[in-house]
Amino acid sequence: MSVHSEIKKITTETLRKMKFDKEKITMLTAYDFTTAKMVDAGGVDSILIGDSAANVMAGHETTLPITLDQMIYHTQCVVRGVERALVVADLPFGTYQSNPEKALDSAVRMMKEGGAHAIKIEGGKEVEESIRKIVNAGIPVCGHLGLTPQSIYQFGTYKVRAKEDAEAEKLISDCKLLEELGCFAVVLEKIPAALAKKASESISIPTIGIGAGSDCDGQVLVYHDMVGMNQGFSPKFLRRYLDLYTEITGAVSQYVKDVKSSEFPNEKESY
Ligand code: KIV
Repeated sequence: MSVHSEIKKITTETLRKMKFDKEKITMLTAYDFTTAKMVDAGGVDSILIGDSAANVMAGHETTLPITLDQMIYHTQCVVRGVERALVVADLPFGTYQSNPEKALDSAVRMMKEGGAHAIKIEGGKEVEESIRKIVNAGIPVCGHLGLTPQSIYQFGTYKVRAKEDAEAEKLISDCKLLEELGCFAVVLEKIPAALAKKASESISIPTIGIGAGSDCDGQVLVYHDMVGMNQGFSPKFLRRYLDLYTEITGAVSQYVKDVKSSEFPNEKESY
């Protein structure tokens, strides 16, 4: 028996069961093979190829510019590094909002060419028909509500969403709609913890929070943020587990010194 077949792969069904068993779900982003390998080896349940790749990998100010081809490329790289985790890929801005047929085409490309196990879409009622069409084609869909970065020009700010009653009520009804449509999970981004708790108790599919408190069924963070590669981004919800920016710039400057002083390579490092 090969090592591969001994690894128990995480599926959407596993996540549902984890919510039922009250076991917290872990998700982190990855956009490349090497990171995906490390994140998978660290034991996360799900890896998200977020369209945050537009920010973290490409240096764009928003997530809007990234294309479906670019997201497919990142997904292909991640899939090659993963043995256990459920791989979820974002459909980028403009690839699913205009009509359900286009949404299905985008989702099919992401599954077929990218090799994703599931896709993620931002929005509730507004994208109902797109989600219905994709789910009916047998593609697992993760919803995303609250602060949905693809709508940043409508929001005008990255501040906490759904603090007012009307938006909070819409969020709960969107959660129920996503469950009805057959989504397997929903990401809740930057909303009050009490609302996230209410949302998590209102539906049987798992909620995965980012800046949404501890009562979600799981948590997601952007990998580059949690390992401290990103110094300029410090929202309250972020916990940094490493300070890789300092570590890496320190290592680079040591390498520069070593080469300049002819200390590297030494005899043992030469043929
Ligand atoms: O794009 C992304 O990384 C995301 C997470 C922040 C949930 O959507």
